[in-house]
Amino acid sequence: MELNGQTAVYGIIGYPVKHSKSPTFQTKAFQHLNINAVYLPFEVKPEDLEKAIQGIKALSIKGFNITVPHKEEVIKYLDEVSPEVEYIGACNTVVNIDGYLKGYNTDAYGFITGLKELEPSLEGKKVLVIGAGGASRAVIYSLIKEGVDKIYLANRTIQKAEKLKLDFLPLSKFVQQIIQPITLDQIDNYLPESEIIVNTTSVGLKENDPHLFDYSKINKNQTVVDIIYKQTPLLKVAQEKGCKWQDGLPMLLYQGAKAFQIWTGKEPPIDIMEEVLKS
Ligand code: ATR
Repeated sequence: MELNGQTAVYGIIGYPVKHSKSPTFQTKAFQHLNINAVYLPFEVKPEDLEKAIQGIKALSIKGFNITVPHKEEVIKYLDEVSPEVEYIGACNTVVNIDGYLKGYNTDAYGFITGLKELEPSLEGKKVLVIGAGGASRAVIYSLIKEGVDKIYLANRTIQKAEKLKLDFLPLSKFVQQIIQPITLDQIDNYLPESEIIVNTTSVGLKENDPHLFDYSKINKNQTVVDIIYKQTPLLKVAQEKGCKWQDGLPMLLYQGAKAFQIWTGKEPPIDIMEEVLKS
């Protein structure tokens, strides 16, 4: 596809944004469907976020993704947000309809679509979620929507887990019973009954990071997910034990595919996008 005066511009804003894989796989998806569009990375410092959003409107950028550290802050500059964004408190996808900005959260969809490749039925499951930050909120939203029975929500700072629970109370009348905040030290007590373990913290990004709990206590019947895009020490143990396991790539793929669908109204070419991510 030749670029010309009608080429639509999409992009991602973040700080830093250099390592983002989204420009490559979104561009490939546009090319594959012969859509006259490009997708570019835009590095935006926190103090420049408002100006960047004004710029997006002025330049008629059709849609954009938002990554760290802007996912929460961007909300106040949007004209409308989806219910997911309201609950999760973070937005990663925006569509620009003639200057009217509507925000979505496709991270929750991305996470759950990835997890369902390993666990097609989540209803009634018991899940250990580690971390209570922005990523955890998307994970928890999607797990509650799928009807899990219990979420042991382990966080270094227990108050943050308590706060998350309070924020989710309006989502379901059962939230009080579903979410149980615990400390990292208490993980050992709840590990045996957890069928799925999800790490949403950045611990494991570096090889010599401390372990979040005693990984040797994981058993082969448990499914282990880390939203970091590589095989972390936690995932290595899961593999050694013979568990079903998954890194953050499926979540990245499916959040991007959903964003693509929101922007273009077209079925995203998943296989092509996946191929790019894995190369
Ligand atoms: P994100 O948006 O990626 O979730 P975040 O909102 O900064 O990022 O949340 C980071 C999460 O990782 C938090 O749950 C944090 O624990 P605290 O709430 O106690 O800060 C957790 N985290 C980060 N570094 C950690 C560490 N070294 N040990 C344990 N938990 C850690």
